[in-house]
Amino acid sequence: MVSVPSIKLNSGHSIPAIALGVYQTPKDVAGSIVTKALDSGYRHIDSAAGYHNEQEVADAIGAWLKLNPSVKREEIFYTTKVWDTDHGYDKTKKQVELSLEKAKAIGYIDLVLVHTPRSNYESRHGTWIALQEAVESGKVKNIGVSNYGIKHIKELLSYPDLKVKPAVDQIELHPWLQQTELVKYLKEQGIEVEAYSPLVQAKKVDNPVVGELQKKYGKSYAQILIAWSLAKGFIPLPKTVTESRLIPNLESADIKLSSEDIKKLDDIPKNDPYASGWDPTIYPLDDEKK
Ligand SMILES: NC(=O)c1ccc[n+]([C@@H]2O[C@H](COP(=O)([O-])OP(=O)(O)OC[C@H]3O[C@@H](n4cnc5c(N)ncnc54)[C@H](OP(=O)(O)O)[C@@H]3O)[C@@H](O)[C@H]2O)c1
Repeated sequence: MVSVPSIKLNSGHSIPAIALGVYQTPKDVAGSIVTKALDSGYRHIDSAAGYHNEQEVADAIGAWLKLNPSVKREEIFYTTKVWDTDHGYDKTKKQVELSLEKAKAIGYIDLVLVHTPRSNYESRHGTWIALQEAVESGKVKNIGVSNYGIKHIKELLSYPDLKVKPAVDQIELHPWLQQTELVKYLKEQGIEVEAYSPLVQAKKVDNPVVGELQKKYGKSYAQILIAWSLAKGFIPLPKTVTESRLIPNLESADIKLSSEDIKKLDDIPKNDPYASGWDPTIYPLDDEKK
């Protein structure tokens, strides 16, 4: 079985360096693909309230742990996220309780992220205070953000009642969208960087630079892109509902790209960079909306 390294978060907890992403994984598929992923060696699953599969994912992890008592709960890392419409102290409190209820089979949640910064100062602040309290309760081990740009992180770090720094920022990252300034800032702040859409949602499978490296290393499109992400020190979250892709995607952890080849990917022409089609990291702060 592939051995995937772990990364130490600023909270002191460890996070496995590759996750299975389950965005757009339908409810009726989520349980079986998560079970197969755990069988294949995945120890990190990335879900969200907005993916509508939290219950199925957590139930599958819980059932798998029962069948595999040699693996401890602490070895699995389960992430969920709070969507924009649940920003604000009261709504986030309720939403975290709901997510915990759905995660009953696994006892606690490893990481809760603010899914995007799209609200206003008061709501983002209230959400963060509610998440800090969730950490204090012990039911949530780590908290972080997603789609936050530098200005959103700076705002968060300036909260007068800040007790817990974000452990991660989950952002779209791949050779076409490297967000180098944001990544540098996050690293300086001790915030780990999770790379979403690391396969560019399979939209660049015909790219000649990746193709050349596929030939050179004898690896697939997905493996080259995941290996690049790992080489950058990111935590990639490749999504698949195809069982046969699970192990090859995870085996990217064993690929060592040369610095010359990493540079070739770094230098890829950057036309049409957003797989997701949006740039939430520039969402205006309150005083920019006036
Ligand atoms: N925080 C956020 O706002 C945010 C936004 C987007 C994504 N995410 C997270 O990041 C995860 C991944 O991002 P994503 O789902 O946008 O895209 P992605 O992982 O870049 O790409 C997924 C696509 O690649 C295909 N694929 C998987 N393995 C492959 C392989 N070995 N060869 C060829 N194609 C392959 C999948 O097809 P099949 O599934 O059919 O195999 C699917 O169509 C999400 O699931 C989610 O957890 C977070």
